[in-house]
Amino acid sequence: MSILKTDNLTYKYSVGTPFEVTALKDINLEIEKGELVAVIGHTGSGKSTLIQHFNGLLKPTEGKIFVDGQDIWESKKTLKEARFKVGLCFQYPEYQLFEETVFADIAFGPKNMGLDEEDIESRVLSAASFTGVTEEMLEKSPFDLSGGEKRRVAIAGVMAMEPEILILDEPTSGLDPKGRDAILKMIRDYRDTTGSTVMIVSHSMEDVAKIATRVLVMNHAEIMSFDTVEETYRHADSLISVGLDVPQITKVFLELKRRGIPVKSNIYTVDQAVSEIDRLRKEGVSLC
Ligand SMILES: Nc1ncnc2c1ncn2[C@@H]1O[C@H](COP(=O)(O)OP(=O)(O)O)[C@@H](O)[C@H]1O
Ligand SMILES: [Mg+2]
Repeated sequence: MSILKTDNLTYKYSVGTPFEVTALKDINLEIEKGELVAVIGHTGSGKSTLIQHFNGLLKPTEGKIFVDGQDIWESKKTLKEARFKVGLCFQYPEYQLFEETVFADIAFGPKNMGLDEEDIESRVLSAASFTGVTEEMLEKSPFDLSGGEKRRVAIAGVMAMEPEILILDEPTSGLDPKGRDAILKMIRDYRDTTGSTVMIVSHSMEDVAKIATRVLVMNHAEIMSFDTVEETYRHADSLISVGLDVPQITKVFLELKRRGIPVKSNIYTVDQAVSEIDRLRKEGVSLC
């Protein structure tokens, strides 16, 4: 049984007003336990609206959401359960830090779950070690940390709730390449160690290729595709046509293909490019 499922999910903002917008149209998807799904799509395609449905922050205009096979809107109890099972980390989560110390900020979620002091402390320490938040940082005010450190503290706060499904909205946005890679590695390690299901929203195909097991491509409120990284890149030209940026190396191979050279089109790392060129050489194909 899938851990997360939507059934004809449609969502409209400002229903019945001149500003009515259909942000999600008939979304049907199923995610298995332990997957690391990346959600990509142009700005305004519906990514944030979609993920806010998974822990009941938004209520479908039509359709249903199932977490662990349970319709989350069936009762107050099922909704509360979904809020514990699905941990959502918003875009720019560092703006939501507000406690006096980093420790207290990470402890906020577990405290709300009604855990005892000992459990809270062990969860805070384990989430801190995952995210590279040092003991010294735990005693500081979150406001004395750098932007990248604050981001890690905010993510630790959601991890400390040990959700079955961890969802992060653009966790790398605004970070430099080094900070971005550190966050991506942390997310992958978290999933590999805990076996949790993870969803990450991103607008970078390059980020996604590094960690995802499957890629959900959103386009104008609808699912354009939901497939492995490999298969998603096979249609790299259609990704470009819906406003997504693909790695430079992918563009080079698309251009070679356009010029009639029989290259694979799903090339997205330099290593893949090197072995593809080797293959062509062995077959005696000229690249000029
Ligand atoms: N609070 C809101 N009120 C009205 N319209 C909204 C609101 N949030 C998002 N939208 C609209 O819903 C659509 C999907 O937005 P969003 O889910 O934020 O997309 P993404 O995260 O992919 O950028 C867009 O057309 C956006 O303008
Ligand atoms: Mg968004």
